[in-house]
Amino acid sequence: MSDAVLEKDMAAYWDRAGKVWVEQQALLDRVYQPIAEAVVERAGLANGEQVMDIGCGAGATTFAAAWRTGPSGRAVGVDISNALLEEARRRAGQDGIEGVAFLHADAQTHAFEPTYDALVSRFGVMFFPDPVAAFANLRRAAKPGRGLTFASWRGLEDNAISQVPLTAAAPFLPAAATVFEKDAPGRFGLADPDRTRRILQEAGWRDVAIEPLDDPTPVTFDELMTMSLRVGPLNPALAKADEALRDRVREAVAQALAPYVENGFARMNSACWLVTAKA
Ligand SMILES: C[S@@+](CC[C@H](N)C(=O)[O-])C[C@H]1O[C@@H](n2cnc3c(N)ncnc32)[C@H](O)[C@@H]1O
Repeated sequence: MSDAVLEKDMAAYWDRAGKVWVEQQALLDRVYQPIAEAVVERAGLANGEQVMDIGCGAGATTFAAAWRTGPSGRAVGVDISNALLEEARRRAGQDGIEGVAFLHADAQTHAFEPTYDALVSRFGVMFFPDPVAAFANLRRAAKPGRGLTFASWRGLEDNAISQVPLTAAAPFLPAAATVFEKDAPGRFGLADPDRTRRILQEAGWRDVAIEPLDDPTPVTFDELMTMSLRVGPLNPALAKADEALRDRVREAVAQALAPYVENGFARMNSACWLVTAKA
């Protein structure tokens, strides 16, 4: 899901990257389910409430929210990627989930109804080109005093699951593919908690609280490789690389990740922030 470093047009980027997320949905849902649960749990959603899931992707967090808001409430997944929204709608239909709706919109600029009891997100709020404008726009969607709760990634230094593959691949790829510009929109766009606090306060949110959230869900070696090469920050560069280069990178990443696997499973922590604020 990286990154603004390589990609200026986010909607076009997410329509392409979204296809990878759709393809890997079962794996991503399993690995990141504890993060969705932590977000909706902390949001304190109640039956009958209206909640927005920002950057909802294929809808895992929207569905987790809908379990709490119930058929009389409404969980609205908002996303800029048609590919992911199509998958979210398909899953809602297939599983007969009531009280959900999906909206194709740019969360930074869309004029939302100011009717939301809660705004939640798992990894959907780090990509805004103008984060202050985006969070101010989202604040206007929340009823006064109601909450924003989201999970975002901590930095590379805390996330061996990203750093190890990037370091292993670095000798084979252009620097732009493996070096992340600090604070730029993208996976690590809200890694600095002081900056996140400033952004939210400037956007008019108050009572901002930021705490670490860790998710050490175990994955197999093959799943770890898929997450590193297909879903993780190496994907855009590898998608453009030829077969020989892809093989060299795959080999280097496999070697670097092997020591993290014990009895067939790796427990590489997903190191996140859990952020809350009030409108
Ligand atoms: C890393 S994915 C996370 C998806 C989902 N929340 C999950 O955890 O499975 C980031 C999502 O944010 C969406 N996104 C990025 N910028 C957006 C924007 N400006 N407005 C709405 N959605 C956006 C992308 O299309 C993508 O679905």
